[in-house]
Amino acid sequence: MIIFDGDKKVFKLDTNNTSYVMGVTDEGYLGNIYYGKKIDSTDILYALRIDDLPFTPSKFLGGKIDFMDRFPSEYPFSGTGDFRNTCISIKDSTGQEGLELLYKSHNIYTEKKKLAGMPCARGEKTTSLDIVMSDEAVGAEVVLTYTVYEECDVITRSVVIRNISEKEFYITKALSACLNLETDVSDILSLHGSWARERHIQRSKINYGSYVIESLRGEPGHQDHPFIALLSENCNKDYGDIYAMNLVYSGNFIAAVQKDQFGKIRTSIGINPDRFSWKLESGEQFQIPEVIIQYSHNGIGGMTRNFHDFFRNYLLPSKWVEADRPVLINNWEATYFDFDDNKLVQIAQEASKLGIEMLVMDDGWFGHRNADDSSLGDWYVNEEKIKGGLKNLVDRVNSLGMKFGIWFEPEMISPDSELYRKHPDWALSLSDREPGLCRTQYMLDFSRHEVVDYVYGKLYEILSSANIEYVKWDMNRPIAEAASESLPADRQGEVLHRHVLALYEMQERLVNDFPNILLENCSGGGARFDAGMLYYSPQIWCSDNADPIERLMIQEGTHLIYPLSTTGSHVADCPNHINGRVTPFDTRADVALTGTFGYELDVTKISQEERDQIPAQIAKYKKYRKLVQTGDYYRIASFLENGRYDSYMIVSKDKRHAVLIYVQVVTDSNVLGKKLKLCGLDSEKKYIVDGKKYSGNVLMNVGYIIKIAKGDFKSVVIEIESAE
Ligand code: DGJ
Repeated sequence: MIIFDGDKKVFKLDTNNTSYVMGVTDEGYLGNIYYGKKIDSTDILYALRIDDLPFTPSKFLGGKIDFMDRFPSEYPFSGTGDFRNTCISIKDSTGQEGLELLYKSHNIYTEKKKLAGMPCARGEKTTSLDIVMSDEAVGAEVVLTYTVYEECDVITRSVVIRNISEKEFYITKALSACLNLETDVSDILSLHGSWARERHIQRSKINYGSYVIESLRGEPGHQDHPFIALLSENCNKDYGDIYAMNLVYSGNFIAAVQKDQFGKIRTSIGINPDRFSWKLESGEQFQIPEVIIQYSHNGIGGMTRNFHDFFRNYLLPSKWVEADRPVLINNWEATYFDFDDNKLVQIAQEASKLGIEMLVMDDGWFGHRNADDSSLGDWYVNEEKIKGGLKNLVDRVNSLGMKFGIWFEPEMISPDSELYRKHPDWALSLSDREPGLCRTQYMLDFSRHEVVDYVYGKLYEILSSANIEYVKWDMNRPIAEAASESLPADRQGEVLHRHVLALYEMQERLVNDFPNILLENCSGGGARFDAGMLYYSPQIWCSDNADPIERLMIQEGTHLIYPLSTTGSHVADCPNHINGRVTPFDTRADVALTGTFGYELDVTKISQEERDQIPAQIAKYKKYRKLVQTGDYYRIASFLENGRYDSYMIVSKDKRHAVLIYVQVVTDSNVLGKKLKLCGLDSEKKYIVDGKKYSGNVLMNVGYIIKIAKGDFKSVVIEIESAE
């Protein structure tokens, strides 16, 4: 519900459990007054403490800059006295940079508008608010849009900048939102890592000064994640205050926290202003990406479950949310580039006997690609490898009762490719300099429409040529030289954002032209696992590292925000190709169970004993698949924190079914059974666990004692069923 109290000029945005309150001062400044547990009044303007401020401009113009430096601005602007982290900056045609946004009008409505050219949450059964702010001197109008998702305790925000002047101006900073919080938060929760070690959770202290999480790689990257949460000191997985922001954007981002001279905290998120500027002609508008914001007083777990519900109900492609995803086998770790049609069919033959439902042909099927140093851009089938052509191969795989999926890396061009020889200018590069290689490849210049159309045309031809039911869209290098020959000097700062917009446009075309194709995004593992990409693809390859122990940490971080069903999660070969760890086959399957399940190995080469286990592993996945897709996720113990074991549960919404997963990373000597306090059950209900009846109350307070064989890397999956 959104309330506007006209007397007090206060906006109150209520979800089931939270209130978000803004107020307009007599001068027209829009301030953030309160965000937290639901309150029952709009009479809180006093909390802005303007009456106590001797510097309020309407009272004493002589101290205006002091006011600007203290005011909890809802959408802070640069260059007129707010010396903290701001959200927006505009350079006008004279080269001057200074903005003062004042309230102009507002509108409350029920049909949420889609963001032009960008992913955003759907708005069924929601209420939205537009607040129009303007700076008449610059000729800039800014529309702040809020949508309230009541049952998820989520608010989304996005911004449009309009040029209402006669001349062009340049946007040099365009963040999506900030929150002004008091001193009752003290910690930061964020996600960090590297290739093969994505999204490990980090908790750190907020100190005076600024702390920044960012990407300048043209994608969110393996290293940092477009998410930030601020927590109260006592906040844990079960209780405490947490404020979170997750950006719906797949390019360079910045998330910052700043503790100012008064100990107040401002946190902001949006497009990274470094390497960004956008020329806006008179009459044009610029869309800033959406951000998903929430407050929970139910701790980190409360935030997680709100995010999961929100993603499932409003952001993931709805068609796929509850659809059964095929159990797939991908040939990457099985063969790398060394395969032909017969090898793939042999793998498919064996896999189909074991109950695997889809074969995915990964990198190396096109041009003359036999290593990672050629052919990107040459999207035609290499008939020396795939003899008889693609349709023939797909038909052979289909005749085994299996679906067929294919890999692409559409944003790239190899120097050794026909495409590059014909169009060297299609690679992003700085004038008079050789572009830098990464994985021996260049980035295509997606700010050029002819390039995007050409590549999409090639994809379209391949996807129309055979019964292809799945696409893995990869991106294996960051964007370094963001310069385009096709753009004038004053638009070079647009290249990276234009790349993201073109990527979105292509994925939109793909999912519209091929609505039955399941799209899985990927970026050298999980470098582009973000809310923007999840709008197009219901699952994303989580990491190149499928070692189950490393995956415990990667998946814990990923599932902090994103639903389990979004995580491409496979049983890989052993010893693990990346870290060499040897783990039991079953543990690999138990950890992959809580994602979209598949295999990343050569089924024709593993032992007969392992092959024999696969049908049971698939049956186990299918048994819990619906629960994993729709249930509530509870963390019990974190290996990242305790260094010994990991455990989590998924509980159905009606609390009748649950599954408990426990992985013993390091076995404990001389310890009598591990007692785990279960979570999320109904304390009034009776449950059967391992043939014994317990009350939910007992399981959650006294705990359940895990019986597990001695040894490192062992796992168990335990079914919990309501006895009634
Ligand atoms: C990176 C992906 O994450 C892998 O799964 C694989 O598809 C390779 N790229 C292929 O080049």
